[in-house]
Amino acid sequence: MFEALERLPADPILGLSAACTADPNPDKIDLTVGVYKDESGQTPVFAAIQRAQEALSEREVTKAYLPQVGDANYIAGIRTLLLGETHPALAAKRVTSVQAPGGCGALRVGAEVIKAASPNAKVWISAPTWPNHIPLIGSVGLEFKEYRYYDAATHSVDFDGMLEDLATANAGDVLLLHGCCHNPCGADLSPEQWQAVTGLVADRGLMPFIDTAYQGMGKGLEEDAFGVRHMAEHLPEVLVAASNSKNMGLYRERTGAILFCGTGAEEAEIFASQATKAARKIYSMPPAHGAILAGMVLSDPALNASWRQELAAMCERLNGVRALLDEKLSAATGKDYSFIRRESGMFSFLGLSSEQVDRLREEFSVYMVGSSRVNVAGVNKANVDYLASSVAAVL
Ligand SMILES: Cc1ncc(COP(=O)(O)O)c(C=O)c1O
Repeated sequence: MFEALERLPADPILGLSAACTADPNPDKIDLTVGVYKDESGQTPVFAAIQRAQEALSEREVTKAYLPQVGDANYIAGIRTLLLGETHPALAAKRVTSVQAPGGCGALRVGAEVIKAASPNAKVWISAPTWPNHIPLIGSVGLEFKEYRYYDAATHSVDFDGMLEDLATANAGDVLLLHGCCHNPCGADLSPEQWQAVTGLVADRGLMPFIDTAYQGMGKGLEEDAFGVRHMAEHLPEVLVAASNSKNMGLYRERTGAILFCGTGAEEAEIFASQATKAARKIYSMPPAHGAILAGMVLSDPALNASWRQELAAMCERLNGVRALLDEKLSAATGKDYSFIRRESGMFSFLGLSSEQVDRLREEFSVYMVGSSRVNVAGVNKANVDYLASSVAAVL
């Protein structure tokens, strides 16, 4: 049966990372896959997760399925993590959250429920957006439209272009937004811009779908949630796909949730029933391990404090690397890279052509995606000079 199928090319980003691993050059630098790395190039297990895991292995007596909505501690914890303890939508009991296999699972479940509610809704995506949004959301049959977002010439958000494009959206269309730390460009909306987009969404009757995969890695846990919290307070309906892959280091444990703020408790319950039904036909039951650990970290004050501290240190390191990259690249090339400091999270575009990206890989063993998107976390004090001189050499 399957011999008639064609071999598909490897995922471009994962393929590049594999090529870097195989490269014997001791000076090689991997800036490809979106995984946090510390100063020594490791992707650490958070101490709080490690402690939760030890406690869990002592007390775990079953591997029976979790409830369909997920681990109780986790789905309650993720609501307050995203919205804050005192958010009016929580007080009004108009919020529900359903566990999903990572942010990807949450995006797909959210898309399924959107498709069930409004099969002809168009999904507005930023130009550019995370490439995986297209198959994750498109596979349920929803169609896309693009809005202007990143202006490569100014290295910042083309906010006027964004508003102009969204002014042509129809009522009931879905607006996909990056909650913080935009992937791939790193340029985020300011609080004032979030407020303006919220006004536009209300005026045009759009449905915001916020993908938030990096809370705590841009400016801080609370600051990075501004958009989600503002929209959930001021709009009748908001959908959020949350991931704890990065901010709890739970990548392979597939830990995420779809959160819905509706007009009231009844609508929230309807959403949860639809989301669990959608999950049932894709993967049936949620994976337990990561969510139980995340639930323990979110509900235990000591683990929570330890996790917050470690996450804040990661965030500080990312912002420190951004400052260092600006300094070294600007000095090596004589060009202005200060935009890297103004951007947030793990990604930025270096503004190189695909030929320059190829030369960096072939001549210098510096690996990045063809668009010149770099994972800032792959830069450290030991490799930044080599990176800067390599970039200067191909310019
Ligand atoms: C923008 C964005 N959304 C969602 C995700 C979801 O990640 P995961 O499914 O691993 O939690 C990622 C991961 O790279 C991402 O970059």
